[in-house]
Amino acid sequence: MNENVQPLKKGSPNRTEGREKNMGLEIMRDVTGKSESTSDVRNFAELFKDRYERLKKIIDTGSNSKQVPLGQVSDYRGDDVFLVGLVQDRRRTKKGDQIVRMEDLSGDPENPAREAIVWISQKKEGLSERVENILPDEVVGFEARVPPNLDGSRSPLVWGNKMQRPESQKLEGANSPPKISRSEGPLAVLTSDFHVGSTEFLEKPFQRFLNWLSGKRGPPKEKELAERVEYLLVAGDAVDGGGVYPSQEKELEIRNVKKQYERLAEYLSNVPDHINVVVGPGNHDPVRLAEPQPAIPEDLGSLLVDRGVTLVGNPCLFKIGNVRFLLYHGEGFDDLVSAGIGLGYDDREELMVETMRRGHLAPVYRNSDGDQAPTAPERRDYLVIDEPVDVFHAGHSHKFGFCERNGTSMVLSGTFQSQTSFQKRKGISPDPGKVALVGLETGSVVGKLGFLGGGLS
Ligand SMILES: [Fe+2]
Ligand SMILES: [Fe+2]
Repeated sequence: MNENVQPLKKGSPNRTEGREKNMGLEIMRDVTGKSESTSDVRNFAELFKDRYERLKKIIDTGSNSKQVPLGQVSDYRGDDVFLVGLVQDRRRTKKGDQIVRMEDLSGDPENPAREAIVWISQKKEGLSERVENILPDEVVGFEARVPPNLDGSRSPLVWGNKMQRPESQKLEGANSPPKISRSEGPLAVLTSDFHVGSTEFLEKPFQRFLNWLSGKRGPPKEKELAERVEYLLVAGDAVDGGGVYPSQEKELEIRNVKKQYERLAEYLSNVPDHINVVVGPGNHDPVRLAEPQPAIPEDLGSLLVDRGVTLVGNPCLFKIGNVRFLLYHGEGFDDLVSAGIGLGYDDREELMVETMRRGHLAPVYRNSDGDQAPTAPERRDYLVIDEPVDVFHAGHSHKFGFCERNGTSMVLSGTFQSQTSFQKRKGISPDPGKVALVGLETGSVVGKLGFLGGGLS
């Protein structure tokens, strides 16, 4: 045990006392204990149907055009219609126009999928650019003109005039700088990606962070902030795990995953009792990789639970008081970066904004053959964002950043691990040692604190 780590505490009476003073935590959506995933591929049909139906409801047409099922497009020759579909593919023609093929499930039970092809002229400047960053399996809406001479094809071709995404009405054009609200009242600390057990785990900065949290460190202003903290929210990868990337074992100080959790529990035992700790899993935690991920299992998480930690799934939508938090580890950001739509890991705020625009945390279907976390065949799509979110909190990219768009605070909560050899190969430079503070009465970002140097920054 590190000399700065206090001995484990057992059943401190203050814990219950402190918790009663806090604003309550109410879990609203979490796959933990509710998974219906089986190896039956038919579940994928239900998953995509659920995604489609729920996102269709929240896509705002913003037009007077009639919303028409794809199977009935030929009934509207010469009319403007609004079509909502799950994107199958997008391609560019030799002349530079774009074609989006999408489907819905408006057919008969035997053959539910109905298609339409939306043609987007390169001359429609704003639209053409927006269509370029469509990802496969996104649900989008198009206001389109049905050609008067449309034939009776099963894949009718229509002319796209306007595109709508689930969140686009709220987020389009919003580009304000990060708003820092100097609110009073209780606070949540947002963090993630400690990677305890890694040789690159930044133990000293992490100790400084814990010392600040327990009121032992920092100038009066920062100590006053620490006193207001009621929640510590951790968006995954709290430990480094094992076998996550090639040759990871060379960078493990603690190879045994259970021992990594023991060390994590020792650290967290230094968190004052009145602070509720909520921990979700990431791709380094030993739960299924497929998203949504259930909470860290009891055999490994019991040490944390014994210390009052609440273990939740990934993603998890929960409420603290009146503020809704969406906690997500962030594997979907990998898809945005690898999709070739001009986004990199340095585009911290845009990764979060583009995710919210799509109304889905990771729309691209992933099978189990690739490097990335596969999509789990749940009957319900837990990654759909169809509830209002006050605070979107994610990790995984090891970058730190925050912004506010149309009332939603978005926080990418950094890491307490320095650059790994894997990240070096991928050209990813982390932003370690920073945490974000969010007001629990407002859901606004109140500020950030850094622990890399000798003091707070
Ligand atoms: Fe991580
Ligand atoms: Fe991760």
